Amino acid sequence: MKFVVTAGPTREHIDPVRFLSNPSTGKMGFAVARAAAERGHEAVLVAGPVALKTPKGVRRVYVTSAREMLAAVEDALSQDSVFVATAAVADWRPAKTALKKLKKRDMAGVLKLVRNPDILKTVKCRRKIGFAAETNNVLAEAARKCREKGLEMIVANDVTEKGAGFGADTNRVTFLKKDGSVEKLPMMSKLAVARRIVRFAESLG
Ligand code: PMT
Repeated sequence: MKFVVTAGPTREHIDPVRFLSNPSTGKMGFAVARAAAERGHEAVLVAGPVALKTPKGVRRVYVTSAREMLAAVEDALSQDSVFVATAAVADWRPAKTALKKLKKRDMAGVLKLVRNPDILKTVKCRRKIGFAAETNNVLAEAARKCREKGLEMIVANDVTEKGAGFGADTNRVTFLKKDGSVEKLPMMSKLAVARRIVRFAESLG
């Protein structure tokens, strides 16, 4: 099978030295790509700016912004691929990006933003798996995203929990599947979570 995985944050530049972003380190997505490659699948990892080494047997595509990430995913994906979206994509970007560093005197103190594309919702493929990074109403919000984005499964994590979410080597997640079934997993390494995701994708046939 071919797995296309997004990982890390995106950066949405205001000018060459300033950007909007978030604390994603890429650990979750790199683990999914590694787990897919370990099982003998083709794995393409579309990663935002992170400081991790590319896992063995994985093809990495380097991107910065959400729009670059969307283009790279569309390029790598086919109808029969498995798409696993772990990236923390910035939902908004500055309406304008200055080509040269802005002087403080030229900044109005108000930043106009426009919506970024929703990569997971936009791309066309048969088997889509998403993540939900939540701070409250975790399962209800995750179930809504699973429906609205047309997913086979969403992996919910509470990013306020210690040892879970951004930056940690471990995660505590709940699998919510399209058929309505819910599987709560204990705290485990991100690699162990990733291996479960790959097994689930394999079960979709
Ligand atoms: O990278 P780490 O430090 O290891 O941290 C892991 C993680 C916290 C980033 C990861 O476990 C996680 O929760 N990833 C999803 C982050 C997120 O943006 O969640 P969301 O609930 O806002 O988005 C829902 C889904 O839509 C996600 O699969 C996301 O990749 C996708 N999405 C969101 C917005 C957008 N514009 N395009 C998308 O594809």
